[in-house]
Amino acid sequence: MWLNNLVAAQAVLALLGSASPTGDFEKLAKRQTILPFTEYDGPLAYSPPKYPSPWGRGSGNWSAAYQRARAFVSQLTLAEKVNLTTGVGWEGEQCVGNVGAIPRLGFHSLCMQDSPLGIRFADYVTAFPSGINVAATWDRSLAYARGVAMGEEHRDKGVDVQLGPVCGPLGRIPEGGRNWEGFSPDPYLTGQLIAPTIQGIQSAGVIACTKHYIVNEQEHFRQAPEARGYGFNITESLSSNVDDKTMHELYLWPFADAVRAGTGSIMCSYNQINNSYGCSNSYTLNYLLKQELDFQGFVMSDWQAQHSGVGDALAGLDMSMPGDTLFLTGDSFWGTNLTIAVLNGTIPQYRVDDMAVRIMAAYYYVGRDQAYVPTNFDSWTRDTYAPIHAAVESEIGLVNQHVDVRRNHAANVRAVAAASNVLLKNNGALPLSGREKWTAIIGADAGSNAYGANGCADRGCDNGTLAMGWGSGTADFPYLVTPEMAITWHILNTGGGEVFAVTDYGAESQIVSTAEQATVSLVFINADSGEGYISVDGNEGDRKNLTAWKNGDRIINNVTAVCNNTVVVIHSVGPIDVSPWYNNENVTAIVWAGLPGQESGNAIVDVLYGAVNPGGKLPFTMARAGQYSTSILSEPNNGQFGAPQQDFTEGLLIDYRAFDANNIDPIYEFGFGLSYTSFSYSNLVVTPVNAAAYTPTSGQTEPAPTFGSVDTNVNNYVFPSNIERVPLYIYPYLNSTDLEASAAEEDYGLPSSQYIPPGGTDANPQPLVAAGGAPGGNVGLYETVAVVQATVTNTGSVVGDEVAQLYVGLGDGEPPKVLRGFERLTIAPGASATFTAELTRKDVSVWDVASQNWIQVEDPIIYVGASSRNLPLQGSLRNGGSGSSSPSASAAMSSAASPSGSASRQSSGASRVSQISDGQVQAPTATVSQISDGQLQAPTTRAVSQISDGQIQATRTS
Ligand code: BGC
Repeated sequence: MWLNNLVAAQAVLALLGSASPTGDFEKLAKRQTILPFTEYDGPLAYSPPKYPSPWGRGSGNWSAAYQRARAFVSQLTLAEKVNLTTGVGWEGEQCVGNVGAIPRLGFHSLCMQDSPLGIRFADYVTAFPSGINVAATWDRSLAYARGVAMGEEHRDKGVDVQLGPVCGPLGRIPEGGRNWEGFSPDPYLTGQLIAPTIQGIQSAGVIACTKHYIVNEQEHFRQAPEARGYGFNITESLSSNVDDKTMHELYLWPFADAVRAGTGSIMCSYNQINNSYGCSNSYTLNYLLKQELDFQGFVMSDWQAQHSGVGDALAGLDMSMPGDTLFLTGDSFWGTNLTIAVLNGTIPQYRVDDMAVRIMAAYYYVGRDQAYVPTNFDSWTRDTYAPIHAAVESEIGLVNQHVDVRRNHAANVRAVAAASNVLLKNNGALPLSGREKWTAIIGADAGSNAYGANGCADRGCDNGTLAMGWGSGTADFPYLVTPEMAITWHILNTGGGEVFAVTDYGAESQIVSTAEQATVSLVFINADSGEGYISVDGNEGDRKNLTAWKNGDRIINNVTAVCNNTVVVIHSVGPIDVSPWYNNENVTAIVWAGLPGQESGNAIVDVLYGAVNPGGKLPFTMARAGQYSTSILSEPNNGQFGAPQQDFTEGLLIDYRAFDANNIDPIYEFGFGLSYTSFSYSNLVVTPVNAAAYTPTSGQTEPAPTFGSVDTNVNNYVFPSNIERVPLYIYPYLNSTDLEASAAEEDYGLPSSQYIPPGGTDANPQPLVAAGGAPGGNVGLYETVAVVQATVTNTGSVVGDEVAQLYVGLGDGEPPKVLRGFERLTIAPGASATFTAELTRKDVSVWDVASQNWIQVEDPIIYVGASSRNLPLQGSLRNGGSGSSSPSASAAMSSAASPSGSASRQSSGASRVSQISDGQVQAPTATVSQISDGQLQAPTTRAVSQISDGQIQATRTS
């Protein structure tokens, strides 16, 4: 039962805060002395109401799945429909989330399980490289293969929905705790890799859940109870305040690709968006996601991210996770309350039908009916036999069958990890031969965690080599090959010299004496981060800074003082500040290895010793601390209702977009990465394609459909006598035939005009939106408008991979250039390959706030080359290609590379408004006392403790 305790710790930590008591008590004291916090005095961002919630239409390639889902849902009773939508409560079943079963039809309880890099809380599974490593490969086929492998493992353990991949956070802030779970702060790169990941997962018959929707860009203040545990006096979650243009061009972009790729599910996030909660926000859910992106699957809440019953239902939430309002309360916003809300007419039948149809459509869309395997593991224990419902002392049953689902997936892990290594510097030190006389391996990051690879719950510590971050986005390692193991073994097998590892970072004199004798010193440093419910060394999810952990800088300086051949390997969750040593001439090579997963050591050996020629490129900018355009809001600036306000004032200018616009030279730019060979670029050819004219979508939907009928006889909803009630378990049934008594809600009977927004229950046909009409948006957006080609030549002497990159300059008001194409090419020495990228209409369009549509830029500039700052080829869409080849493009250092127009094309920054819709009138604070959606707040005298969409909060169901 050890795991049970560890997992329960998640809940406790979420409430209490930290894993490092002393430091946190000090901080708490400090924070208490500076109370009250400064009031936020900027304009309060506002999220406009958008109702009704769009009903799924079966558009795109979803029609067959919809047909089957509708047929299935037509047979269901109201209670059964409700069961599909509501989790049974934290630890109620074996997965991190389960909804109710439909025993009458033999339909199992759907199982939702973390994580984006494998299966959390299970044995005999693979610990894959993190999303950020996939991004560093720039390889769509590796992303797909990893997706297939993860999907197969989830399927074979009996998981219906894999809680991943991640494109929120996008990576706005380099210190953001969960950036590594996703891909890259570039939305195009993220979108291009999340799509094949989803398709891979779903090809195995498992539903992907793309998360966290949306602008969930930091851990601090994501949930008020968690923040209070850290000593912050806030009462509501942070509000990410973002304008409409930035929303579309950055944060919504990869979600559009995910929807277009068919993601079956999307998880709404903890944070607020323009002062309306992620799972209550009718603008982001009803309008952006379900209308504009025409999402046909279902929206699931993040765990405890639901904040109201009726409100969230009407705002577009389809599944409540884990079902209880707070872990282990037995209370639910839905369950019984959703049944009551339909029976008393507050929520129209069509909305519940739509929830159920969306869930079942995703199920059929990925072929789960064919792929179904009963759940054969238990998140809450490793014991074979244990309570069936871990939350309570229920009957004991077989919960863990210890099924080994790994196949040969280690090969995929090693391939992705090796392909993701980014060679940042090489003065000829690499590749190593393996026959060096004396190899020193230095740093805690090279060795094992003395507690065991899984010794810290949810990887919540930085002991030994870092191969994944911490939090729910993790899996248990089946083993972890450390760099120390793999390098030692490799040297022994190559018949080489002596090899010694010093892995205690405090052993300074031993480090120096070992490095002194070394032919080569391999120094391993790292920087970790993770989810906000765990704090490691005072890093409350987000990193406190960009410095290497555990004295990394100092160790490198000590080693370089005595060893003139020091190779640095970085395992990190994102950029670190390498300025203290990257230029040191005794640092002869630097490799960024990210978070490689279980095959870490083998993958780094592949690259250090040349079995694999490094071809990864940075999926983010590496610069000095303080040079980035964004930072964590680490002290609350409480706005209305005690919600910290985080204004995205930088608009579109994050990561390289900001460095380019502000003409700041980073150390290693976005897209940068060296190889053991060199490449040149030539022959840019831009061929415009005569695409059909762009047609804004028009017309309207059908009226809201319903499936089956609702039996209005309340007697039929009373808790059935033949079911044994499990304590704390969430059910759809009533306690009595009296709806009001069953609801046990003092606001019961409040006139619906006081809490149902205008249009909230409208069932009439609704207009389609111009930019919408198909999953991912208007089909015209994805038509090819130009084909760009260039020749890439391997000018060196070994075979190597080059990621050719295409950027476009979209003119005033936009960043100087944005990535819009890439291809990873393997090229033999002396040979050439053709880089081909198809530009879609959306790729060369900008979001127009006034018309609420994409507008194609007349003649965008086109750049092709080896990184965001090494772009030797330039042309334009109309005038085709020009530019010359660079002799050694990928080998050129960033400082020497041309910024390709970055300095001269400053963004006008015209779109930086603090509202989601430019020109939208700010809701006057006097009349809108409610922190969401501009709806009137139900009077507090009625004890509506709920902030969201003005809806009444449901209370206990049992
Ligand atoms: C995380 C999600 C995760 C869920 C279930 C939440 O705290 O934000 O990413 O899927 O827990 O574990």
